[in-house]
Amino acid sequence: MTPFPTTGTAAAEPETAERIRDVNTRYHDGAAAHYDAKWGIDWGDVGRDQVLGKLEKLLGRPLPRFERSLEIGAGTGYITLHLLRAGIVADATATDISPGMVDALRGNAERLGLTVDARVADAERLPFDDESFDLVCGHAVLHHIPDLDRAFAELHRVLRPGGVVLFAGEPSRNGDRIAVVPKRSATLLAPVWRRAIGARPAERGHDDGGEENHELEHLVDVHAFVPDELRRPVEAAGFADVRVQGEELAANWFGWFNRALETTARREDVPLRWQKYAFHGYLLFQRLDRRLLEGRLPAGIFYNLMVVGRKAADGERPAA
Ligand SMILES: C[S@@+](CC[C@H](N)C(=O)[O-])C[C@H]1O[C@@H](n2cnc3c(N)ncnc32)[C@H](O)[C@@H]1O
Repeated sequence: MTPFPTTGTAAAEPETAERIRDVNTRYHDGAAAHYDAKWGIDWGDVGRDQVLGKLEKLLGRPLPRFERSLEIGAGTGYITLHLLRAGIVADATATDISPGMVDALRGNAERLGLTVDARVADAERLPFDDESFDLVCGHAVLHHIPDLDRAFAELHRVLRPGGVVLFAGEPSRNGDRIAVVPKRSATLLAPVWRRAIGARPAERGHDDGGEENHELEHLVDVHAFVPDELRRPVEAAGFADVRVQGEELAANWFGWFNRALETTARREDVPLRWQKYAFHGYLLFQRLDRRLLEGRLPAGIFYNLMVVGRKAADGERPAA
C-alpha cells in the first residue's frame, strides 16, 4: 500500500490509502449535519448563480443541457442540486463516500422538490456501467482522493464518448500557502473582534461533529495541486482538450480572514449585520477577481484550481 503524506500540519506519519478513505468517511459523516451552515451554502438564486458561473467559466461557453450527470464527492449536493434546479441536467446521480453526506443530500433534494439518485460510492470504484453519463463532475473532492489515476480511469470509463468532465474548487499549493496569512492574522485578532461584536468563544469541534472530528480534520486532505499535477491524471486517463484554470485570490483572502474570525465565536453570537458584510464582501471580491485577475495571472497563483476535459467521440482521431 502506497504511503501518503497529508497536507495537514500535524501528521505524525504517512497514511495509507485505506486509512485516508476511512478517515474521510468518518470525518464527513460527523460534519454532514452542520456542513451547509458552516460553509454558508445557499440553496437559492445566489448559490445557483455561483455554481453555473463557475462551470460556465471553466467550460468557456454557456452550459449545454446534459441528459445524465454523475457527481463524485457530492457532499450535501451543492453542484448537482443546483444543476437540476437550473434545468441543466435532466437525470442526476450524486455519489459520496460518506453515508452521512448522502443522507444530508437526500434531505436537501426533498426540501427542494428535486429527484436525484443519491448513492454511497468511493470515487475509485464506481458502481455504474461503462458509458452511462454525458457529464461527470465534482467540487472540492479531488484533494481527498488517494489514487487520482484510478478515479479518473473510472470517470473515463463511465462517461459516454463526447462527454464532459468538470472539476472545480480544488486547492492550489500556492493558494494554500498564501491563505495562511489571512488565517493567522484573523486568529491573532479574534479576541479583539469577539469583544467588539459581543460574541462568546466557540465550543471546540461544534461545527464539525465534535471532538473526534477535530482530531481527524488534519488527515482528510491529501493533495494541494500545482496546475500540472491536476492536469496529469486527467490526461493519463485518456481525456482530450484538458485545461486547468485558477480562480479567486482577493476573494479568498477576504473569505478566509472572516471565516477564521467566525470559527472562533459561537455561531448564534455572530450578528446578522456581520454575516451580511462577510457574504456580500466575498461576492464583491469574487467579481473583482473575475474581472481583473483571472485569465491574466498564471493559474497556480490562485487559491482554487478547476479542470475541464472531454472524452473523445467514437471514431475521433486523437490530436497530433
Ligand atoms: C469538501 S467536501 C465537498 C462536498 C461538496 N462537493 C461541496 O462542494 O460542497 C468533500 C466530499 O468528498 C467526499 N469524499 C472524500 N473522499 C472521497 C472518495 N474517495 N470518494 C468519494 N467521495 C469522497 C467527502 O465525504 C465529502 O463529502
